[in-house]
Amino acid sequence: MKAQKKLPPVIMIIFGGSGDLASRKLMPALFNLFIDDYLPDDFAVAGIGRTDYGGEEKYREHLLEGVKQFSRRKDHDEEWKKFSEKICYVAVDIKDDAAFQEIGKWIEEKSKGWKEHPIIIYYMAVAPQLAPDIAKKLYDQKLCADPKCTRMVFEKPFGHDLESAQELNQLLGSMFDEDQIYRIDHYLGKETVQNILALRFANALFEPIWNSNYIDHAQITAAETVGVEDRGGYYEQAGALRDMVQNHILQLLCMIAMEAPVSFDANEIRNKKVDVLNAIRKFNPEDVHSHAVRGQYAGGWMKGEKVQGYRQEKNVDKNSPAETFAAVKFFIDNWRWQNVPFYIRTGKYLHEKTTLITIQFKPAPDYAFPEEASDTWRANRLTISIQPDMDIRIRFQSKRPGPSMILSPVDMIFSYAEAYHEDEPEAYETLLEDVMEGNPTLFMRADQVESAWRVITPIMDAWGHRKPVDFPNYAPGSWGPEDAEALVARDGHHWVTLPTKNG
Ligand code: BG6
Repeated sequence: MKAQKKLPPVIMIIFGGSGDLASRKLMPALFNLFIDDYLPDDFAVAGIGRTDYGGEEKYREHLLEGVKQFSRRKDHDEEWKKFSEKICYVAVDIKDDAAFQEIGKWIEEKSKGWKEHPIIIYYMAVAPQLAPDIAKKLYDQKLCADPKCTRMVFEKPFGHDLESAQELNQLLGSMFDEDQIYRIDHYLGKETVQNILALRFANALFEPIWNSNYIDHAQITAAETVGVEDRGGYYEQAGALRDMVQNHILQLLCMIAMEAPVSFDANEIRNKKVDVLNAIRKFNPEDVHSHAVRGQYAGGWMKGEKVQGYRQEKNVDKNSPAETFAAVKFFIDNWRWQNVPFYIRTGKYLHEKTTLITIQFKPAPDYAFPEEASDTWRANRLTISIQPDMDIRIRFQSKRPGPSMILSPVDMIFSYAEAYHEDEPEAYETLLEDVMEGNPTLFMRADQVESAWRVITPIMDAWGHRKPVDFPNYAPGSWGPEDAEALVARDGHHWVTLPTKNG
């Protein structure tokens, strides 16, 4: 899709310019924005890192490899030539103050002669422990002094727990305006996630029944078919709860549970989301066991390939208690959602790569129909498939053709691929464009991050105090530990999965 508007001049500085995030996500996203004509004519991006590539050309070649491998568009050689002229590399050690003076000088020289003063974006694509130091140095060197035209982007994890997140927020708050800080959660940039707001609030159909009178329960599954890969060191400190639940899953939950915003103002939407986080019931230590399940993958087979157990992965302790799977039953204690369970689950090396939201409605009374008609009676269900397929399905009862009144459930399916023949942007494209434009709606405000930590703190604490006794407890390629099935089965439910394309 071609851009409808042009952005102001932009300079982007990527700390961690030689890292994975830069070559897998950020540069492909910027390149796609360039192809779609979103980037301003006055645009430059600099990777900052210690690796010596032996010249700018080599750095660009390295990034092109990333584009060829990871971008949704691979064969745009002519465009790449033009785009790559905008890419520079500054090899410095960010521990030195001098590095920041050099970056400042580079920005000044680069933007000389530009029509307008550029928006300067500092992207922290570095290990989280380095980000506060970089922020301090940016402040000391006055590189972020003008709040109108300087912004910083922070990757997750934002803090390691409530306390550290609060400390980081305080530190940043003492140096910068909240408007300058963009805490990224890439799930919010996904097309299907943004569409939840449209589905709920741009249609008259759903909102009147979107409450505990009609909804029996909701589910969110975010399943992956990869293991922890080479991120064992990080994952040991994180686990599925911190890595996926504190951010992505709670954000999805906010989208489905929030009240209608009165405007699309960034703070209005974020206020409505934070209300949900604040209303989520915080478990007492003795309730954690019956509401939350953890798992860790064993060695085994994944799609015909032998894979090792989590405890055998690189940089992982042989007796590690880190969970690679988590399932939780949440409640939102407000009028709309009283007593409606929200089941969430996420894990590595699960049966299928899928992110799926299910809204299960209460059954309609079936007394009007003959007994045999209702053998296959099913309650209405709405499923929102976030990835890899992007679709929305409504399940309802229909009469089978024939002389007798036999009912069966059918699905009405809206598929993005069939409805729109456009390539949808990657989450990072949407989010980077928003940072350049200065639109923080899809980013986490300080209080949102802290509220999300508050939700998972009781679970983290309980799991920290009581070491798991049954790890590893699920096989690669399964749907996680048996206890996760029991968590929903106890309430008479089951986890919803959709038929896969090839089976
Ligand atoms: C990241 C997590 O935030 O999200 C990873 O750190 C996870 O562990 C990834 O694999 C999943 O993202 P996506 O977009 O592939 O669902």
